[in-house]
Amino acid sequence: MTISINIRPSVPPLSKAEDRTKVDVRYSLIAPYANVHIYWDDDTGEMIYELEEPLLNDDQKKILKKLEESMLELININVAVDNTMQNLVEYIDRTARLLIDELNLKIPESIYERIFYFLYRDFIGMNEIDPLLKDYFIEDIECNGVDTPVYIVHRVYRNMRTNVVFKDVDYLASFVEKLAQRSGKYVSYANPLLDGSLPDGSRINATYTKDVTSRGPTFTIRKFTRVPWTPTQLIALNTLSPEMLSYLWLLIEYKSNILITGGTSSGKTTLLNALAFFIPPEARVISIEDTRELNLPRENWLPAVSRTSVGMGKVGEVDLFDLLKNSFRQNPDYVIVGEVRGKEAYVLFQGMSSGHPSISTLHADSIDTVIRRLQTPPINLSPTLVNSLDCIAVMTHAIVKNKHTRRLRELVEVVNVDKDGSALINTPFVWEPGRDVFYFKKQSKVFEKISARYGLTMEELQREFLHRSRLMYNLFKQGIFGFAEIQKIINDYHKDSDVILKKFKVVS
Ligand SMILES: Nc1ncnc2c1ncn2[C@@H]1O[C@H](COP(=O)(O)OP(=O)(O)OP(=O)(O)O)[C@@H](O)[C@H]1O
Ligand SMILES: [Mg+2]
Repeated sequence: MTISINIRPSVPPLSKAEDRTKVDVRYSLIAPYANVHIYWDDDTGEMIYELEEPLLNDDQKKILKKLEESMLELININVAVDNTMQNLVEYIDRTARLLIDELNLKIPESIYERIFYFLYRDFIGMNEIDPLLKDYFIEDIECNGVDTPVYIVHRVYRNMRTNVVFKDVDYLASFVEKLAQRSGKYVSYANPLLDGSLPDGSRINATYTKDVTSRGPTFTIRKFTRVPWTPTQLIALNTLSPEMLSYLWLLIEYKSNILITGGTSSGKTTLLNALAFFIPPEARVISIEDTRELNLPRENWLPAVSRTSVGMGKVGEVDLFDLLKNSFRQNPDYVIVGEVRGKEAYVLFQGMSSGHPSISTLHADSIDTVIRRLQTPPINLSPTLVNSLDCIAVMTHAIVKNKHTRRLRELVEVVNVDKDGSALINTPFVWEPGRDVFYFKKQSKVFEKISARYGLTMEELQREFLHRSRLMYNLFKQGIFGFAEIQKIINDYHKDSDVILKKFKVVS
């Protein structure tokens, strides 16, 4: 009997509640052990975030305590560091079973599993708040001392009280020490303020002593989330033109495959995130990243992150390749890959060629380099697979009027990749550095493909292209930049374009 634990159960779609008093949802945080139940509490007139963990009776609690004490002596942290999550789980499992034998404790397997959860949580995880840290929807976690509930900020339901309470000052103090240790810092009575970040990028602030704050140690954790730049903000920065956005919007809607390239810090990820606004609202999106950077304003989105550092050192090693293979099983409508680097490209391009459109980024600063990098190790794709690519967007870091900026230097269509690996390309849009303007140079070959595949005439496509270009421009002119606002307009456009075109004066 081996134990398995899933710290990344899938994220459910949650919708904003019109009526908070009707909210009653439950989802998994650490499967199969910890769930959260979010509901309206009539007695206190507020929403409650209730963490549900396995229940232990007094005898079982004693066993857990005994195991924890013995384990503390036994566990060799160094053995565990730089290990995978699964190895750590197995290590704790093995050690615990050994101790149970040694101490001659008789525990049925079902009870053992519950006890094991707490051993995992406290040794590998972050104790009481570990499930909260695993909750994708939580933005902030706040503890104001002992005997007072921990509060959280939830992406969908905002502020909530939790049922997590630290009851013992010494325990809370040692927890703050643990936070310090995990962020590579040190707190003491002489040095009681902690300002650091956890391995996953979350920010921590904490106080250590009783006299700084009356209720004992406190902490707040601001989980890593990034508010993305919207398409209109990119127009405002003159990163690209409304026409380029309109073109990319059409490409995305008609399931084309887009690769964003550029040098370090050229704005690839930022553009990727802005383009994600154009994915039709009902589509099922899966995103895969090494570190959490993307933030899509949609409900039907399954974010997955490889290599999150949970617990001691670098654990939880699941690479992009595994994640991607796994996500194609869930039959996504769109796949987003934060950055393509190695063997995962094969899975991605195979997915693309079998009708799963994708948007991803690749580090390379010219088209030639992109085409070459895709076909040489470690990526090593065949020319046929590279052919599934429709468009390459080349981002560049530019200095315009003595200021550092980012520009979408060109949009290049891959017309055909020969057996010898050379590519025939078409470049409909380019940026002209001298005047800092964008040109629409040539007819789009991808539009021809879309026209043939979806039975649209070129005139229809051109009209859509014009409408959307103007819509983007008008939204920018009217100063509409907000994340939720822009997403709503785009979603509404997908439902009924005429209403939006009239509303924003594209047509009268
Ligand atoms: N369009 C833009 N205009 C101005 N600044 C930008 C723009 N896009 C991104 N930046 C800035 O450039 C930095 C890097 O952006 P981003 O992470 O998108 O680049 P990247 O190419 O994905 O980088 P990396 O090579 O690290 O993957 C960010 O700090 C961001 O603020
Ligand atoms: Mg990036």
